[in-house]
Amino acid sequence: MISIRRARPGDAAAIAAVHVAAWRSAYAGILRDGYLAELSEPRLAGFYHRAILDRREGHAVFVATAAPEAAEAGTPQVVGFASGGRARRRGLAEGEVETLYVLDDYRERGCGRRLMRAMAAHLRAIGCNSAMAWVLEENPSRFFYRHLGGRIAMREAIRVAGQGVEQIALLWDPIDTLLAATAPVPEGRLREDG
Ligand SMILES: CC(C)(COP(=O)(O)OP(=O)(O)OC[C@H]1O[C@@H](n2cnc3c(N)ncnc32)[C@H](O)[C@@H]1OP(=O)(O)O)[C@@H](O)C(=O)NCCC(=O)NCCS
Repeated sequence: MISIRRARPGDAAAIAAVHVAAWRSAYAGILRDGYLAELSEPRLAGFYHRAILDRREGHAVFVATAAPEAAEAGTPQVVGFASGGRARRRGLAEGEVETLYVLDDYRERGCGRRLMRAMAAHLRAIGCNSAMAWVLEENPSRFFYRHLGGRIAMREAIRVAGQGVEQIALLWDPIDTLLAATAPVPEGRLREDG
């Protein structure tokens, strides 16, 4: 069973592991192989540890955890995460989803939608009436955001690790459009992991 909850400092290493795995999968062929190979879990764990504790600008981190199969022992494993807060750049939207990553083996089970819903509910709770997310234009995940009703609001060239790439801003204005698109599936239409 998949659960969504606010991240705790002790999740930082697991979040870093998801970050590295998801980046190496999602950005293969988009970002340089050498850069992806050099991603450091310990360094990212430090980054996420600070991010979980830093609640300035309404910043929040959520995790998706998967309970072990009935026959297995152990604690739920972090299989995805999202983070965000008040938009880092003014003018496009009030709130921003800064990261969203789900392990390959757990995709298409509703984790992404539920993490987006947690972020949307959080952003609205802190007073954001609109939300946005940046995505690399070549990343097929842009269709996920489009599927959830995100409207392309801006396109720009940036550099990631010295490499020129295009990114697009997806916008939900008002934020209720994102809350509606991520509403829980009604009874009878429940997916495998509900
Ligand atoms: C994008 C991502 C978070 C989606 O997570 P997910 O858990 O697979 O998504 P869900 O299962 O919640 O999917 C929700 C809906 O979106 C659809 N969907 C998922 N990924 C999609 C994609 N790439 N393109 C189009 N639709 C997509 C699902 O089919 C589902 O449709 P439904 O309305 O019929 O149920 C995940 O694919 C991922 O981590 N990708 C790699 C990392 C990445 O690029 N993140 C974004 C960085 S900005």
